[in-house]
Amino acid sequence: MTQASEDESRHPFLKGLSKHRGAPPTVVVIFGASGDLTARKLVPAIFNLGVDNLLPGDFHLIGYGRKEIPDEEFRSLMDEAIEEHSRRPLSKEIWERVRHNTTYHAGGYDEASSFASLAEKIDGIEKEIGREVQRLFYISTPPSVFEPIISNLGSSGMAKAHLHTKFASKVIVEKPFGHDLGSARELNAAINEVFEESQVYRIDHYLGKETVQDLLVQRFANSIFEPIWNREYVSCVQITVAESLGVGSRGGYYDTSGALRDMIQNHTMQLVALTAMEPPVSLDPESIRDEKVKVLKAIQPLALDAEDGDVVRARYESGLVDGEPVKGYKEEEGIPEDSFTETYAALRLSINNWRWKGVPFYIRSGKRMARRASEIAIQFKRPPGILFSEGNKFDVASNTMVISIQPDEGVTLVMNSKIPGLETRTQPVKMHFRYATTFGSNTPEAYERLILDAMIGDSTLFIRGDETEASWKLITPILDHWNEAGEEGLATYAAGSWGPKESEQLLASNGHEWRRSG
Ligand code: NDP
Ligand code: BG6
Repeated sequence: MTQASEDESRHPFLKGLSKHRGAPPTVVVIFGASGDLTARKLVPAIFNLGVDNLLPGDFHLIGYGRKEIPDEEFRSLMDEAIEEHSRRPLSKEIWERVRHNTTYHAGGYDEASSFASLAEKIDGIEKEIGREVQRLFYISTPPSVFEPIISNLGSSGMAKAHLHTKFASKVIVEKPFGHDLGSARELNAAINEVFEESQVYRIDHYLGKETVQDLLVQRFANSIFEPIWNREYVSCVQITVAESLGVGSRGGYYDTSGALRDMIQNHTMQLVALTAMEPPVSLDPESIRDEKVKVLKAIQPLALDAEDGDVVRARYESGLVDGEPVKGYKEEEGIPEDSFTETYAALRLSINNWRWKGVPFYIRSGKRMARRASEIAIQFKRPPGILFSEGNKFDVASNTMVISIQPDEGVTLVMNSKIPGLETRTQPVKMHFRYATTFGSNTPEAYERLILDAMIGDSTLFIRGDETEASWKLITPILDHWNEAGEEGLATYAAGSWGPKESEQLLASNGHEWRRSG
């Protein structure tokens, strides 16, 4: 009997509807279940997987945390979370199936006895349904308790349950994955003491975004891009991950992190890796991750000098966002007087391999920028300035392919066209493909895809241990340098602008300038 027909026989209402991708019976345990991420992203994602009939017939959810929360109160909190944050309205009929199997387990993250009772609870579920279940542990707490949780999953025996079968336990680890190379290595070592690498799912929610996944399809399912995706044709690559929001109520966390750790080390470097990697030999997780690691390792160490270095950092000051006055970073709630944390970082990367040698990759990310816009722009070399130029003055634009990650997801090609009329004059024009126009706008949230993939054991969209270390290896010397320098060299920019003028300099020395994104 197949998984789908087994599920249908146990749950007749699924008959004819089941199209899930084969997740075995699963118990998801969320550590830190009273937190923000659970309410805003995780539980709404689980609900939407239910709507799409992608949850296994036997699906159980256990929230874990230090607070005492009665089961029914936890269920009500999750109802509210879905009502407030789900992309689709709460359907009581669909949610009831999960709700009925949702409980809360109170305990400390370093308390062996609470893990022992959690293990018993899950064993009880297995007995009750009369078959094996997969245990999927989602660590959604602050990083200070990642290691005790992992260690207790080991000593309670839960990490090894059904190892080497399709019911083997899995662990999803949230960001931040360490705060520098040393701590990332320690965390990897702690995880690998308890779990085999195939059981580990390090999350980067950018990989769950539709447009980020589409990057691989654009590159490798079309034959027109590959021949020009290299140093012969590309002049530079610009990756922007800009937010118009400030730090809001997360000042306490953010001040210990900064833009480099919060956005560049993980999300932005993943975009670099997917843009620059070689074609993988197949779409299996290891082939893709091997290529990503290779390209991350080919990035040269960055020059850190203030003059003509490869890095720029800055902090936002008060300004106008969408016409509204907003305060500067130092005035935000929870930011210490002596903070020198950057809210903007820009880097110029050189990838020392056959494909990219000599092509600068400029990357930037910041809070309180002019607008929310994340994009990858491949800027091609100009044609020789022989035709359509006046007095040797070049007046055609560079061709640019822009992959808009969010919002307004899509792909744009900038090319030159003749302006209608009796003279031959050129103007850059845009060819647009918009997801929303072609496919409609209600696409799955990143966490839906990622939770589903972890349940079915597909780690393609998760970060491997060596990948995270390769990225930290590049970033850590910058952090050390900035820590030593303190406030010195920290530029400023007005909230609502495109960042500090110093970042223009990174590009100007190669004759480039930042695109106006969005
Ligand atoms: P929260 O700060 O809301 O914490 C989650 C839960 O962890 C809390 O409800 C609390 O549960 C427990 N907790 C909080 N502080 C501590 C502490 N000092 N020691 C032990 N337990 C603590 O975190 P989020 O839900 O916002 O985020 C969870 C994880 O996801 C973090 O690693 C974060 O970096 C990551 N993340 C969050 C995003 C978001 O948008 N929120 C986005 C991307 C990643 P209790 O007291 O019941 O034990
Ligand atoms: C998180 C960062 O990882 O990503 C936040 O901690 C940031 O600071 C967020 O706001 C951005 O995610 P998205 O999906 O809104 O681009």
